[in-house]
Amino acid sequence: MLFFRRKLRVPEQFNRNSARVSALMPAEDSGRLLLDRMRDRIGFASYADVRLLDFGCGVRFTQAIVNRRLPIREYAGVDNYREMIEFLQRSVRDPRFSFAFLNARHPLYNPDGIPLGDSTRLPFAEGAFDVVSMFSVITHQNPDDAASIFRLLRRYVAPNGHLFFTCFLDEAIESFEDRSPQRNGGFCFYNPAFLTALVERCGWTEVNRAKSEGPLMGDSFVFRPS
Ligand SMILES: C[S@@+](CC[C@H](N)C(=O)[O-])C[C@H]1O[C@@H](n2cnc3c(N)ncnc32)[C@H](O)[C@@H]1O
Repeated sequence: MLFFRRKLRVPEQFNRNSARVSALMPAEDSGRLLLDRMRDRIGFASYADVRLLDFGCGVRFTQAIVNRRLPIREYAGVDNYREMIEFLQRSVRDPRFSFAFLNARHPLYNPDGIPLGDSTRLPFAEGAFDVVSMFSVITHQNPDDAASIFRLLRRYVAPNGHLFFTCFLDEAIESFEDRSPQRNGGFCFYNPAFLTALVERCGWTEVNRAKSEGPLMGDSFVFRPS
């Protein structure tokens, strides 16, 4: 309990959620709600024994865990926003947390980064995480980058672990469509069969899926290593 003395105050510049989502409730509460949903969908009782790797982490799950004193065994956050990761590394003094900057190129979030590929690695032991999550991350990836990320994350999940991610699905499109005006990964939709085939080619097997819950959570999937 010594870990929880300091409240984490996050400068507004590091808020990664849309104004619509932020207006609904504080980041701590949406973070807690989404963590609860993921727990129920994967089917475990508590995060107390869970080692979570959160790719495209932003700040809200750290805010929820730290400021609402949620139990967790380990939380590792990865993001390609260098200043935000450096802020988290400086501010969260709790040995259960670690944060890694990944200099991955993304046309909107990190245009000068290095393209994702088969040699991309994370600074963690392989197979070390029970749950690997991506909230509102595949909603911003083209299929090539999505495949690189799914292959990358496959390395770090434990043999009996799970992958959970949210996305935007549309049966009416053939494969993929970026509906952002600038076509810069701002608003990416997938055909469900196209997306599940893509994830399965990266070493995963589908466990379950659920429809969107309004602005807070897109369509979502649970996969396990195949
Ligand atoms: C919409 S925000 C969601 C943040 C967090 N998952 C949440 O739900 O609060 C998407 C995050 O993914 C990160 N991101 C996008 N593409 C990435 C990539 N290729 N590698 C690492 N992080 C990425 C962005 O920097 C951003 O913080």
